[in-house]
Amino acid sequence: MSEAKTLLAAAAAVLETADPADKTAAAEKADALRLASAPLGAPVKAPDRPARPEKPDLVPPGAVPRRRLGSPEGRAALLHAIAHIEFNAIDLAFDMALRFTAAIEAAGLNGKAFAQDWIRVGGEEARHFRMIEVRLGDLNCRYGDYPAHDGLWEAAETTAHDALARLAVAPLILEARGLDVTPDMIERLKAAGDSASAAPLEVIYREEVGHVACGKRWFDALCAARSLDPAPAFRRLRDECFRGQLKPPFNHEARAKAGLSQGFYEPIGN
Ligand SMILES: [Fe+2]
Ligand SMILES: [Fe+2]
Repeated sequence: MSEAKTLLAAAAAVLETADPADKTAAAEKADALRLASAPLGAPVKAPDRPARPEKPDLVPPGAVPRRRLGSPEGRAALLHAIAHIEFNAIDLAFDMALRFTAAIEAAGLNGKAFAQDWIRVGGEEARHFRMIEVRLGDLNCRYGDYPAHDGLWEAAETTAHDALARLAVAPLILEARGLDVTPDMIERLKAAGDSASAAPLEVIYREEVGHVACGKRWFDALCAARSLDPAPAFRRLRDECFRGQLKPPFNHEARAKAGLSQGFYEPIGN
């Protein structure tokens, strides 16, 4: 792999790398360039689909194994599903930086700050993936051992046309959903006597608040640049670009910490 020297080239390198260990290393490299105040660099076209390893097999959501937390196998299946989410999250963060920085600049906003923010998020996603991978190893499992579903990247494809749509769906729907469900997973793992699996989820939970907050900041900034009111714009994009439902119960406290008020995401009027 040639050495990327700019933020956008480094983000492209992450997306073009399939192997999990190499992809996380590329993410760290991009984040190190960000910390070293590397230049943004020339635009690079984002690939339609990021490079992925041969495994896991991608299957419909219903074909992913059940996760009964009473057994080590069930806990491994749960952690495998989380590893897959974090692996997708690496690509989603670097795709955000690569695909939409030009649109952010065209809207009169700071494109370099946007790319830096999502590269920082992507660096954290790579760390999340590695923490879960280590715990999977303790449970005699590796990423790729179970099938996984492709819902996260499908959500990326339906929002590839517009930065505001991507911000609405990736951080403000999908990552915010993580804030809703993670505390319960942590509690269930602890109740099953598996604090070692709960520990990385506690780190992930804390850092994901920052990812949703980052999404909300840029969503609001882009709405302002387009003279849109954020809450109705969010609801319109949710209806147009997201196939699922926003499912209560919501974690109002964590969402509020990320800057999401209840009036913003509660499905008022439908
Ligand atoms: Fe994450
Ligand atoms: Fe995240």
